[in-house]
Amino acid sequence: MEKQFLTVTDERTGKTYRLPIQNGTVNTMDLRQIKTDPDDFGLMGYDPGYKNTASCKSSITFIDGERGILLYRGYPIDQIAENYNFLETAYLIINGEFPTGAEYDKWSWNITHHTMLHENIKKFMEGFRYDAHPMGILISTLAALSTFYPDSRNIEDPESRRLQIYRLLGKVPTIAAAAYRHSMGLPYNYPDNTLSYTGNFLNMLFKMTEPKYEPNPVLEKALDTLFILHADHEQNCSASTMRGVGSSHSDPFCAVAAAAAALYGPLHGGANEMVLRMLKEIGSKDKVGAYIKRVKAGEVLLMGFGHRVYKNYDPRARIIKNIADQVFDVTGRNPMLDIALELERIALEDEYFVERKLYPNVDFYSGIIYQAMGFPVALYPVLFAIGRTAGWLAQWEEMLLDPDQKIHRPRQIYIGKTHRDVPRLKGKKKSEAMA
Ligand code: SDX
Repeated sequence: MEKQFLTVTDERTGKTYRLPIQNGTVNTMDLRQIKTDPDDFGLMGYDPGYKNTASCKSSITFIDGERGILLYRGYPIDQIAENYNFLETAYLIINGEFPTGAEYDKWSWNITHHTMLHENIKKFMEGFRYDAHPMGILISTLAALSTFYPDSRNIEDPESRRLQIYRLLGKVPTIAAAAYRHSMGLPYNYPDNTLSYTGNFLNMLFKMTEPKYEPNPVLEKALDTLFILHADHEQNCSASTMRGVGSSHSDPFCAVAAAAAALYGPLHGGANEMVLRMLKEIGSKDKVGAYIKRVKAGEVLLMGFGHRVYKNYDPRARIIKNIADQVFDVTGRNPMLDIALELERIALEDEYFVERKLYPNVDFYSGIIYQAMGFPVALYPVLFAIGRTAGWLAQWEEMLLDPDQKIHRPRQIYIGKTHRDVPRLKGKKKSEAMA
């Protein structure tokens, strides 16, 4: 393809520069040549929140925000959700292609045989208060697990990376379930290797005194599909955190713990929990109008709405809305859905939301389904983390194998004090000098 250039003139010097355009971007290091004199540092780009900055090249996920398109390794999310399970999707996201039968058997066997936690972790978890938020338990336990697997620091070794990927995909659901059981004052359930990945998660969550837990197949499939929909999403806040922490060659357990910490925020994966708290606060359909007024007055956010990339309907929200009906056939209809549908109806018609291109995102409907399935509200971000662990690991390994990548270390625009000498302390006490 013919080389393309951006020609810019620096009016401070009258000099003109031709900057190469590649993949729709200008390399910001090419700006550094633009100087006012030889001692000048040169120009940088300034982009708080990285709204218009590509931090990497990636082949994992593609989003077209204007057209509401989401592809994992080129395959549309709705086709994947319709035809594959979460472990197959995790394989695709991490390895680039769907697994063959033999590849899937090996993948599934290895992950299944890494679902157990070291027994010491139970003592570690017992240190948390009964009402500790399960995301706090997940984040801490993931970091603690790095001390059980010091070999995970061999991030250059592909075999070690593969083993840690098995361990993390296997153990995150076990930690999640243990966090739930801890909050309920219930004994932990051990994994049941005869069940599917998602069926075993439900077993570890909900098995009581019955000899063998039998997951409801409709709920098992619905939750498995929700894990697929949450598996990856380009360079979102938590994936960027995974890449950032991983770029210092920290081990993947600590990197996933950091990514989960980023996900916990209410502006990111914590939004699904906040949506349910918002719907509870609204209380009934007839009070939706008053809440919308508060949103438009800038008092509150409409949680589960808006997106940095999607300026159209989040394709995942559409699929989740369809899953709701299947779940409610089993659990009974969640009355919160009526409030959510009224919120969506009003928002999609109201100029305030239309001009800001605010549509329901992945978090708007997922919590309503989770609640109907019997999960406590605080567990919703943890459910998001289970699916997203596959994406974090894919982004982490792609970053490590990318020759362009270096340790993340952005620059800044310094707006602080210029050089000044410290206050004279001769014969005075520090506090007097500072008075
Ligand atoms: C996820 O990045 C990803 O891909 C994330 C994710 C993934 O899969 O990893 O998709 C998962 O995190 C989904 C988003 C979940 N968060 C929420 O639902 C929280 C509510 N949403 C907002 O906080 C917000 O929409 C963000 C954080 C999602 C996006 O924020 P941006 O891109 O920085 O947009 P912005 O804050 O600059 O908003 C632009 C305008 C502003 O109004 P003005 O200042 O121009 O008047 O839209 C307004 C905002 O005030 N706005 C909202 C709003 N979201 C944006 N107003 C009311 N309610 C909202 N939800």
